[in-house]
Amino acid sequence: MKEIILQKLNISSGPSGRAIAQPMDNALVEALFHHLTMERSASSQYFSMSLWFLEREFRGFSSFFKNESLTEQEHASNFANYLIARGQSVVLEEIAAPKQDWNSIEEIISYSFQMEADVTSSLHQIYSMAERSSDTRTNVFLDPVIDSQTNSEDEFAHLLGKVRFANNQASAILIIDNELIKVK
Ligand SMILES: [Fe+2]
Repeated sequence: MKEIILQKLNISSGPSGRAIAQPMDNALVEALFHHLTMERSASSQYFSMSLWFLEREFRGFSSFFKNESLTEQEHASNFANYLIARGQSVVLEEIAAPKQDWNSIEEIISYSFQMEADVTSSLHQIYSMAERSSDTRTNVFLDPVIDSQTNSEDEFAHLLGKVRFANNQASAILIIDNELIKVK
């Protein structure tokens, strides 16, 4: 009897063939793929910054950026996991080579802050798209992601403030570098 009832249920499948409770809007899925690419690009960019610092004896900054790179990879995995949970087949787009030439530490931290702000803007856009297509699951998924993104902006704003205050003085920069070793 139970089997007969199950056969009558019409369960939809997503592009990956997995069962889905609610289909996703195509534009929303595309935006999530694009965001996943942004997270992978950020990971690659932070990895290159980590190497820039390592080449110049700044082991604290280097370990800080290496950790940031790993964190961004985790964020990318988080989006991939979510898309798979929603029955999507994840498309991994090409990512550009990271920027490797920098004129100053302040330039690197400023670039990082802007990158975090761009990631936050992307999340806000996806959040609005999810609301427009009544995809509450996506909004609930994004809530903690956006919260943690605000913390990342705060972290980079703080680091940028300290680096600006140090004003390229070697002793002050080395103190910050030492603090970043202790953090990890
Ligand atoms: Fe991220």
